[in-house]
Amino acid sequence: MIKRAIYPGSFDPVTKGHLDIIHRASKLTEELIVAVLQNSSKSNIWFSVEERINLLKHSISELDVENCKIKVIAFKGLLVDLIEREDVDVLIRGLRAVSDYEYEVQLDLTNKQLTKKEFETIFLNSSRKYLYLSSSIVRDVALHKGELKYFVTDYVKKELMKKVDEMNGKK
Ligand code: PNS
Repeated sequence: MIKRAIYPGSFDPVTKGHLDIIHRASKLTEELIVAVLQNSSKSNIWFSVEERINLLKHSISELDVENCKIKVIAFKGLLVDLIEREDVDVLIRGLRAVSDYEYEVQLDLTNKQLTKKEFETIFLNSSRKYLYLSSSIVRDVALHKGELKYFVTDYVKKELMKKVDEMNGKK
């Protein structure tokens, strides 16, 4: 059993694919830190970090988690600094298609270069159901008023539709 693992990401917004990884990771570790990147270099972020944390907390509360303490936090700066600070043993990342692999290896090797802290990276393959899913695809479906129930929880769906209305100046 792993003592403390971290699952970092942008989560803009959390999808059922992320939740599947969180649920599966919760069976491997005593404690799981879901870390939401605050200062993302991504240009098209829809939700503030507080909103993303709220969506995550709400969605995680609906998961059937048994013996794992899950906490959701925001982080700024380098992931390895957080890994050192929180004394994390394992970094969890989800892998969808082969296209994710190259980026993930780059991320992992960079992280390992940046710290002396020893930690392992574990890649969890996406479940077949969520292989195609990404937050950006979800935002696009929301923008065009497509059906979101396969991709996100009801709560996230509601918040996504509110955000689209806000962006369209409806409020
Ligand atoms: O869900 P994402 O957007 O693919 O997550 C990427 C994330 C947040 C894990 C990555 O961008 C990250 O760790 N950013 C923090 C900055 C950092 O440590 N950069 C150096 C490694 S590339």
